[in-house]
Amino acid sequence: MPSSDRRAVLTGWGAHAPAHVVTNADLERLLDTTDEWISTRTGVCERRWADPATSTGDMAVRAGRAALDRAGVDHVDRVVLATTTPDHPCPGTAPWVAHQLGLGDVGAHDVAAVCSGFLYALGTARDAVLAGSATRVLVIGADRFTSLLDPQDRGTTVIFGDGAGAVVVEARPDDTPGDTPGALGDVVLGADGSTYDHIIVRAGGTRAPLTSSTPPPDRYFTMAGREVFTAAVHRLADVAAQAAGRAGWDVQQCDWLVAHQANRRILAAVGRALGLPPDRVVCDLDRYGNTSAASIPMALAHHADRFTTGDRIVLAAFGGGTTWGATTLTWPATTRPATADRAPTLTATTAR
Ligand code: UT7
Repeated sequence: MPSSDRRAVLTGWGAHAPAHVVTNADLERLLDTTDEWISTRTGVCERRWADPATSTGDMAVRAGRAALDRAGVDHVDRVVLATTTPDHPCPGTAPWVAHQLGLGDVGAHDVAAVCSGFLYALGTARDAVLAGSATRVLVIGADRFTSLLDPQDRGTTVIFGDGAGAVVVEARPDDTPGDTPGALGDVVLGADGSTYDHIIVRAGGTRAPLTSSTPPPDRYFTMAGREVFTAAVHRLADVAAQAAGRAGWDVQQCDWLVAHQANRRILAAVGRALGLPPDRVVCDLDRYGNTSAASIPMALAHHADRFTTGDRIVLAAFGGGTTWGATTLTWPATTRPATADRAPTLTATTAR
C-alpha cells in the first residue's frame, strides 16, 4: 500500500490497573487530609497503588496484551511506550515489554513527555504508519507514578495512582469518504520549556545527580498546582479545538472528550470552554486518580462500552515540560469479543 493511500486506524485497546485500591478514607488515616477535600478539590474517590514488586513494565505488558487481544493480532512492527517511571534509568523499558509480549525483535522505545506522553507516543505511531515505516504499532502509556511521590506530601499523594493503558494503531487503505471508523486525525503537539520547573523531580538526573546530601524534597515529584491548573485548562481547550479543526470537526458537536485525567475541575472547565455538555466529558479519575501517561488509554478502555462506532472523540493531554497534545479519533467498529483487561472489580480497600 503506497504511504499516501494510508490511514492510521485504532484497532485495539486495553488497560491494566493494580488490584490494590486506596480510598480517600484510607488516605485520611495516613495524611492530614479529608475525603471531603480530596473529592471536592480533585474528584478522585480512589486510586490504585502497585505493590512494590510490580514495575511500570509489568503493568505495560498486561495492558499491551489486552490491546493486542482486542485487535486480534499477535504481531506488530513497533512498540512505543510512554512513561516517566521506567523500570530502570537505562535502558528504556519498551524493549523488555516487547520481549515479554513475544513480539520478537521489533523496534521498541520509550517516550518521555510525562502526562502528555501518550499523545506524543500516538503521534510517533501515526507518523510511522502514514510514512510507511510501520504497518502496525503497539502504543502503551504506563506509569507507576507513586514511585515518584513523597508519601507525606498530601498535595500530590492524594491525586496520583498507578496503571497502564494501550492501543494498537494500524495502516488501512484510505478509500472511505468521511470519517473512517478507527481513524486517527492529525496529532497536534506543543511544549513550553519556560515552565519546565512547574512539574519536576529536581534530583536524580545529570543536572543534579542523587548524592547522600540531596535534600529529601528534591528526590520527589513536585508540582506548582495552581499554575499548572490554569495552564492545563487553557492548553487543553486550545489544543483540543486545534485538533478538531484539523479534522474539519466542529468541536462543540463532538461526541466525547477524553482528556488527561488530572482533576475533575479541570475536565469540567475544559468541557465548558469547548461548549461540550458535562456528560460528554469522560471522567475516569474518580476510580483511578491521575495515572500520568496511562490516563487517556485507560479511560478509553474503561469507557469503551459507552462509545458507538463512528463517534467523534477528541483526545487531549497536558503535562510536565510543560507539554500538551491532542488528536481526533473516530471510534472503530467493535464487533470483536472483548478480551481486554477492563475496569477490574473493586475488592481490596486497605492502604499500604
Ligand atoms: O498531571 C499533570 C497535570 N496536573 C494538573 O493538571 C494538576 C493541576 N492542579 C490541581 O489539580 C490542583 O491545583 C491541586 C489538586 C493540586 C490542588 O488544588 P488547589 O485547589 O489548587 O489547592 P491549593 O494547592 O491551592 O491548596 C489550597 C489549600 C491549601 O491550604 P491553605 O494554604 O489555603 O491553608 C493547601 O495546604 O488546600 C490545602 N491542601 C489540602 N488540604 C487537605 C492541599 N492539599 C490538601 C489535601 N488535603 N490533600
